[in-house]
Amino acid sequence: MSRPRFVDQLDLAATLTAVNASRNFIVITLTKWGAGRIVDDAKLVVSELVTNAVKATGVTDPNPKWTALSKLSLINVRLVGLEASIVIEVWDCEPNEPVLTDAADDDESGRGLTLIDALALKWGTYPSRGGKVVWAELPVHPVTPKGLPQRRKSSRSTPRPAGGEGRPPPDRALLQRVIVGLERL
Ligand SMILES: Nc1ncnc2c1ncn2[C@@H]1O[C@H](COP(=O)(O)OP(=O)(O)OP(=O)(O)O)[C@@H](O)[C@H]1O
Ligand SMILES: [Mg+2]
Repeated sequence: MSRPRFVDQLDLAATLTAVNASRNFIVITLTKWGAGRIVDDAKLVVSELVTNAVKATGVTDPNPKWTALSKLSLINVRLVGLEASIVIEVWDCEPNEPVLTDAADDDESGRGLTLIDALALKWGTYPSRGGKVVWAELPVHPVTPKGLPQRRKSSRSTPRPAGGEGRPPPDRALLQRVIVGLERL
């Protein structure tokens, strides 16, 4: 991993409201870092990671009883800005690692990590603070099919003839001498 240029993070209680909160955090932070072009992919990825973390460690009832909220686990969302990519990391307190499943067409679940696998340059997991981090790296610039960064379009839409703008006007006396010289040939 190249040296982080930007880092920001957010602790959230492990309930389903964390999903929306993490999306807002991602949008605000990426826009602040000038990486607004990837917010759509980043929102999808963080939604899947945070939903998984809540399912593994928190309260998934959309209308939980007050008593269910008394001992909530925390999850942590960390965003790291690298030279040409960003890494989204989600920590939860459950040490078991996620398992990429091969969901069948009619399966209603098992698609979150498959989606991340398709969108991310890389993703993975590592143990941390008694639980684990699941992370995914997204490219900031669009990538060509060969994997190279696309060349930025020039702001000039049409090519200009050589010379023209910025060149001094022709020296009329010199041109006259050239014409006279040519006529003498
Ligand atoms: N943070 C996590 N902690 C523990 N296990 C996880 C975690 N994230 C994913 N898993 C495991 O990996 C499996 C695959 O995750 P994935 O997100 O692909 O599917 P899903 O969450 O079961 O369904 P879907 O995302 O389509 O609603 C999960 O069923 C779960 O067993
Ligand atoms: Mg999931």
